[in-house]
Amino acid sequence: MAVKVFLDEKDIPRQWYNLAADLPTPLQPPLGPDGKPISPDMLAPVFPMNLIEQEVSQERWIDIPEGILDILYRWRPSPLYRAKYLEEALDTPARIYYKNEGVSPPGSHKPNTAVAQAWYNKQFGIKRLTTETGAGQWGSALAFACALLDLECKVFMVRISFDQKPFRRLMMETWGANCIPSPSPETQAGRAILEKMPDTPGSLGIAISEAIEAAVTDPSGQTRYSLGSVLNHVMLHQTIIGLEAKKQLAKVGEKKVDVVIGCAGGGSNFAGLAFPFVADKIAGANIRIIPVEPTSCPTMTRAPFAYDHGDTAKMTPLLPMHSLGHGFVPPPIHAGGLRYHGLAPLVSQAIVEGLLEPLALNQLECYEAALLWARTEGYISAPETSHALAATIRQAKQAKEEGKERVILMNWSGHGLMDLTGYQAYLEGRLEDFPLPEDMLQNSLAAIKDLPKPSMAKSGKW
Ligand SMILES: Cc1ncc(COP(=O)(O)O)c(C=O)c1O
Repeated sequence: MAVKVFLDEKDIPRQWYNLAADLPTPLQPPLGPDGKPISPDMLAPVFPMNLIEQEVSQERWIDIPEGILDILYRWRPSPLYRAKYLEEALDTPARIYYKNEGVSPPGSHKPNTAVAQAWYNKQFGIKRLTTETGAGQWGSALAFACALLDLECKVFMVRISFDQKPFRRLMMETWGANCIPSPSPETQAGRAILEKMPDTPGSLGIAISEAIEAAVTDPSGQTRYSLGSVLNHVMLHQTIIGLEAKKQLAKVGEKKVDVVIGCAGGGSNFAGLAFPFVADKIAGANIRIIPVEPTSCPTMTRAPFAYDHGDTAKMTPLLPMHSLGHGFVPPPIHAGGLRYHGLAPLVSQAIVEGLLEPLALNQLECYEAALLWARTEGYISAPETSHALAATIRQAKQAKEEGKERVILMNWSGHGLMDLTGYQAYLEGRLEDFPLPEDMLQNSLAAIKDLPKPSMAKSGKW
């Protein structure tokens, strides 16, 4: 039995897959402040036009430029692993495979899009990128990409993660980026929040507002903003994961996958692995596809599909997505990258269609899974990734109870070597579960009740 399945560099996928081309009900457009669909040029102060074109593209396959592949070869194709040692520990008839996205230099899937975004910005003549980061994985991925492409990079890091993860900041600085805690006094959005809530742990929604403001107010016009998840072009760039996985599974003779699992914050690592399999499901395949989130930030399982802003200061257009409300400040769980109020419109629309089966898990179960993983497979997982592990272990145990073979494919989205304070809290028995109280959810949703509502139309096939 092969534990690691490699792909030759010459077999790396040369096109990304765009699910927008195949969704049975079309994606609904982003709306401007007047409630009308925005035109691509309205996004031009924020993103370069070549990425805006990808954002609205309906093409099924989009070529990956050689210049991007040339950078990705540093770690891609990433290995597919058979989780043989976990299987043995669980004594399960399931065959568990995982894509190891932790092998990238910053340690997660995030550079798949960071490199692409930095490359397209560079082509467009941009000199400087701004962004937000939660756990620090995205910020360090963009810092890495900007270093390779000779762009300046400024990262607004959610305050709680900035305090919990000083080494992530140092990684960003090592790659030459400037990283500051958010909310910060540097932007109007940051100052307004600090005045109201001086002790706030921050949120991705606030950090996004700051990063957009910093980009659009640069008088030179040579700064743009880069987002690490949620948007269509980010999902697109991540599909290289699932496309590689398909080739690797074929190499070891797997003809069919039964379950695909990924954790979901904004949805990008999940989408990256799952969308090529969602295409199979749309074409008739019988596959269970499970995005996993924390119970403290239950965007997919308890929030409505609504039009909402992607950021707290309402600078972004209204996106059709599952949302806990743009003002939502999630409880301070350690999976910083899963503490986001919204979810990619493409993933949201696939949920509305019934193509996906979202699952919410408590953090203690996830840490328990991460410990079992570390003590069997060996790798220390990012706290975000541990949500996918816990769901995978549930599936493997169920296969055992039912006495059925089952092929499970999971995205191991990143390592947790910079996230050990969370492990420390767990090992010392200081961690608690934080299922979101209903009154907090309702309070947060009150802010979006008067916004336009997206259509809930679906094909009814799933
Ligand atoms: C390792 C890891 N996994 C998952 C996520 C969640 O993001 P997304 O849902 O966009 O993949 C993050 C975000 O920071 C992350 O760092």
